[in-house]
Amino acid sequence: MAKAAKLFIKTYGCQMNVYDSERMAEALGADGYVTTEVIEDADMVLINTCHIREKASEKLFSDLGRLKPLKAAKPDLKIGVAGCVAQAEGAEILRRMPLVDLVVGPQSYHRLPAMARAAGHGVTRIDTEFPPEDKFDHLPARTALRGPSAYLTVQEGCDKFCAFCVVPYTRGAEVSRPPARLLAEARALVARGVREITLLGQNVNAYRCTDDSGVWGLARLIRELAGTPGLARLRYMTSHPNDMEDDLIAAHGDCPQLMPYLHLPVQSGSDRILRAMNRKHSAADYRAVVARIRAARPDILLTSDFIVGFPGETEADFAATLALIREVGFGMAYSFKYSARPGTPAAEKPAVDAAEADARLQTLQALITRQQRAAQGSMVGREVSVLYEKAGRLPGQMVGKSDHLHAVHVTDPLGRVGELARVRITASSSNSLAGTRLPDA
Ligand code: SAH
Ligand code: SF4
Ligand code: F3S
Repeated sequence: MAKAAKLFIKTYGCQMNVYDSERMAEALGADGYVTTEVIEDADMVLINTCHIREKASEKLFSDLGRLKPLKAAKPDLKIGVAGCVAQAEGAEILRRMPLVDLVVGPQSYHRLPAMARAAGHGVTRIDTEFPPEDKFDHLPARTALRGPSAYLTVQEGCDKFCAFCVVPYTRGAEVSRPPARLLAEARALVARGVREITLLGQNVNAYRCTDDSGVWGLARLIRELAGTPGLARLRYMTSHPNDMEDDLIAAHGDCPQLMPYLHLPVQSGSDRILRAMNRKHSAADYRAVVARIRAARPDILLTSDFIVGFPGETEADFAATLALIREVGFGMAYSFKYSARPGTPAAEKPAVDAAEADARLQTLQALITRQQRAAQGSMVGREVSVLYEKAGRLPGQMVGKSDHLHAVHVTDPLGRVGELARVRITASSSNSLAGTRLPDA
């Protein structure tokens, strides 16, 4: 057999892109490609892009610029662009960057191997359709798994149209995958050593599917998945506050495999701004959802996303956001300065002064950092379970995640990857916890 062709993939953006990159590597793997970490060795370079903020999008063009010498030295090198920038600006990418051989949107990944075969030598290919078939039906089984924790996409797309966001345009309408397939995929993952599955969706808790047995929401899917022998943990992300239905909240209270962690973006604490963002929930709605979740699972760790400097945001609006953060208390949060995205309704509106927005972002991040430290600090002395993901840098050390998704460095010379260990937390540093192994119960 000829020498295997080498594939280098660079991934930007959300967990969905990480998952998609693995699936693309598997699809090309069936065509003889093996992945490489060394870009100079590659026969094909694939950039899986993110369009969410201006800075994320710009990375594509600087990456492509840096590939020019490589392509000049190696004319057979194929360069592909995938992901949300490919979807939003595919034709523009081909026009501006003649070195690109193919452009593939997120719903067309199953067509990538055929496109890769056909592309090159001046022939470019573009596929940014939203085809009627489910790409996952045409992608090969999972092979590129890394470690005992895996992602599983259950839902894609978004119908919410927040005024700032490109996702409904780049990922399309909400589509949920059939439960029978997901249950089978989960069993296959566990057979390969996976012990924790994170269910992914742009609006994962909007999951809804109907089969012969009736309607499936995310709660029913989680309860069924929890019965998979050997599967120890389940998580899901990202959720919208309006789709936190009673049965899903109840599952947090009574499904032991469902971990006490929930990422629930709120974006702002000001009702005026939430309305302008088209979020369709108020700050009080969010507080009420949090209260219901905490009633079901008092020790749950909540995390969120915030945008500061949305058009029209005043000091008073920002103060309302800080007040909400103080009141709810988050274990972690992602916060961003508003970035105008072409084609979204908010992009038409006058921007907040950039220096003002920067100052607000710093204030918000400082508050979140204090809350994160406090949440981590409160774990010291407690006994937690840790799923070992890899060996640590120090001898006799394992690294994994706690139920609350804290990274934990554990002193455990006999530890094995994939083990679920009882650990006593002994210290908290800026981004992780340290602990020692306890004897199994
Ligand atoms: N589906 C998820 C996540 C969407 S993107 C949700 O509904 O929350 C992840 C985060 O990026 C968003 O929660 C938001 O905080 C941020 N974001 C999206 N568009 C943005 C923009 N135009 N400017 C700044 N941040 C943005
Ligand atoms: Fe974007 Fe809003 Fe949809 Fe989240 S819910 S993906 S922020 S439009
Ligand atoms: Fe980015 Fe697309 Fe994900 S825009 S955040 S890669 S859905």
